[in-house]
Amino acid sequence: MAALVLFGGGGDLAMRMLLPSLYFLERDSLLPDGLKIIAAARSEETVPEFVARTREAVETRARADGGWDPASWDRLAARLDYLAVDATDADSLQAVKDRLDGDDDLTAFLAVSPSLFGHIVDAMAAAGLAGPRSRIVIEKPVGRDLDSFLEIDEAVRRAFPEERVFRIDHYLGKETVQNLIALRFGNTIFEPLWNNLTIDHVQITIGESFGVGDRWPYYDEYGALRDMVQNHMLQLLCLVAMEPPSDLDPDSVRNEKVKVLRSLRPITPEAAEKVTVRGQYIAGTVEGAPAASYSEERGQPSDTETFVAIRANIDNWRWAGVPFFMRTGKRLKEKRTEIVIQFKAVPHSIFGRDDNSGDISDNRLVIELQPDEDISLTVMNKRPGLDLRMQLQPIRMSLSWGMNGKGEAAPRRRIAYERLLLDAMAGDSTLFVRRDEAEKAWEWVDDVSRAWAESAVRLEPYAAGTWGPVSARKLLTDTDRAWNKNDV
Ligand code: BG6
Repeated sequence: MAALVLFGGGGDLAMRMLLPSLYFLERDSLLPDGLKIIAAARSEETVPEFVARTREAVETRARADGGWDPASWDRLAARLDYLAVDATDADSLQAVKDRLDGDDDLTAFLAVSPSLFGHIVDAMAAAGLAGPRSRIVIEKPVGRDLDSFLEIDEAVRRAFPEERVFRIDHYLGKETVQNLIALRFGNTIFEPLWNNLTIDHVQITIGESFGVGDRWPYYDEYGALRDMVQNHMLQLLCLVAMEPPSDLDPDSVRNEKVKVLRSLRPITPEAAEKVTVRGQYIAGTVEGAPAASYSEERGQPSDTETFVAIRANIDNWRWAGVPFFMRTGKRLKEKRTEIVIQFKAVPHSIFGRDDNSGDISDNRLVIELQPDEDISLTVMNKRPGLDLRMQLQPIRMSLSWGMNGKGEAAPRRRIAYERLLLDAMAGDSTLFVRRDEAEKAWEWVDDVSRAWAESAVRLEPYAAGTWGPVSARKLLTDTDRAWNKNDV
């Protein structure tokens, strides 16, 4: 039988993401037979109290996602258990052990502060919960630089070898991220073009319209670079840039991602001034409502960036000369995550640009993760009509599910944790971050923070509700390029 233990199981991540994910998996009959779900946390709460609280959280989420099914909830509730324990204490963890049959496959999810990871795994080992059939799942932020990452990770690995450590980057659980792998390696039409001969540049945007709000005690220590670039942004970049893996085995895929990270050109203090932008939001208007500045939310001025843009280079044969522009920020104009593959212009245009015959807009593949999941390709087309001179127009073709020609509705958008919980319980680590990936990503990010500390890159204000500081636009316009979403 299998058991899932959620340490910190009564907390925010569990209530917002993990337990609703388990509900949807239950509804779709995807949970392993006989799975027990044990939430373990410090608060003294009875099982009925915990179950009632979980029901409220799950029902709210399920109704919003268009699918509350009381029978599925009853099945999930029957699996749920709650134990008030001190997870850093081996004696206290005996209560967890007593709930398991000796031969249970155990997946332990640490939804707690990383400062506790080491203590919890030591206690698990001492309580006999770290045997060969146990796995551990850990969430970011693991450290705030390479050294602190290694310290925490070493502690985890005192009890769990690499193949039983599952480091989550929830972006890898998103459907469109996996679709990117399908698009690249399941079709012949893109791969021959996927290089510096045909691609002009790549853009990756992770924009959020909400602010930091009351998360500032965490955020102020991390900033956008560590909170978003070190993990989600670099993972997306790796999936766009990696070489075809030999198969989908965890190590085949992750070997290719590590090679990309190794090829990322380090950012020196001299380069930082030209290729990086740091910003922080000041008051403005977001989606029609007034929004306070970061320093107001923080309660005092701060040097933490809430926006970062970087022009990165991957020094290898495939990508030499192709810039990868990345930007992410809070309090931007809209919540939007997209990857844009901008192809080069035609080498010679037979459609003049100055004779009213229409502009050529270069081919562009847009992989949109949020707010909608969509993949679209812009191609040029003749404008219908009898004009003496041929008129061109760009046509955006959606390659997404909704357009599959069968009139089927798109499937429900799953919570990223649904996929990741299932994979972790099945022991498949393809969509989890290997230690050397995390290490290389930290090395690169540490160089950027060092470069910021040693150079003249200053924090640039941007009004809430815009696409970030002026310099972020200049990063592209300086070379006659433009962000896909560029309106202020
Ligand atoms: C988290 C960051 O990892 O990802 C948050 O800590 C951010 O700051 C969130 O808001 C974004 O996730 P998503 O799935 O909403 O794009």
